[in-house]
Amino acid sequence: MRNIYIVGIGTGNPEHLTVQAINRLNKVDVIFIPSKGTAKAELAEVRRDICQRYVTTEGVRFIDYAVPVRQTADRSYVQSVDDWHAELSATYEQLFEDHIAEGGSAAFLVWGDPSLYDSTIRIIERVVARRRVVLDYSVIPGITSIQALTASHRIPLNLVGKPVQVTTGRRLMESFPGLVETAVVMLDGEQAFSKIDDPDAYIYWGAYLGTDDEITIAGRLADVSDRILATRAEARARHGWIMDIYLLRKGRDFDD
Ligand SMILES: C[S@@+](CC[C@H](N)C(=O)[O-])C[C@H]1O[C@@H](n2cnc3c(N)ncnc32)[C@H](O)[C@@H]1O
Repeated sequence: MRNIYIVGIGTGNPEHLTVQAINRLNKVDVIFIPSKGTAKAELAEVRRDICQRYVTTEGVRFIDYAVPVRQTADRSYVQSVDDWHAELSATYEQLFEDHIAEGGSAAFLVWGDPSLYDSTIRIIERVVARRRVVLDYSVIPGITSIQALTASHRIPLNLVGKPVQVTTGRRLMESFPGLVETAVVMLDGEQAFSKIDDPDAYIYWGAYLGTDDEITIAGRLADVSDRILATRAEARARHGWIMDIYLLRKGRDFDD
């Protein structure tokens, strides 16, 4: 039996790492580091920095592996993701066979928390289902980009006693404004906030949260929407990539 640990590492600040994560990383035989190509080399750098700072046990091996590119031609989004997960599970299976001895252990460093818009758990489940490699797996939680956002803006996530929706840019219009008073939007390549026609909504936006390049902007949507669009476009061009998240709010505490 091999043991795999899916470790949340927070969203860019090495100090997001929990003591539980640090202790685990010092007990595994191998740490797998994904390389995603040069555009997001900084993200691989954060993982290396974390290992350099916290992994003090002699003999822990670091193995880089290439993440396959998701193919989108001639298939639906769902099919594309399903194919990609199949390819990744084959990659993981090979990594386990090649680099972890029977009875050994390894860790994956997952951005933020492994439960939030991340498929590492699903992909490991596929490897388990294939039964070529016998393994057990555990999840160690991490600070999510949602927590990094609310902390940077010094705001509570929810209004008193009210629900929160976590959604994507593509699906924002289905629920906000209307169904929910608080929506957290991730994975938004289309800047869906700029299409919300509600002058009283508030937005709390953040990019590269937790890193030295963190940018935050907050205000009435009508007042700050254009500034966020311009800031985002400029930052994206400068870095070659962007990760941003925002919270939209309508209403107040104790409103009914
Ligand atoms: C694939 S999801 C991974 C989320 C991650 N598992 C988490 O717990 O935050 C990537 C999305 O998370 C958000 N995100 C992750 N890290 C971020 C950061 N440092 N700053 C802003 N947004 C971030 C962005 O919305 C990005 O599109």
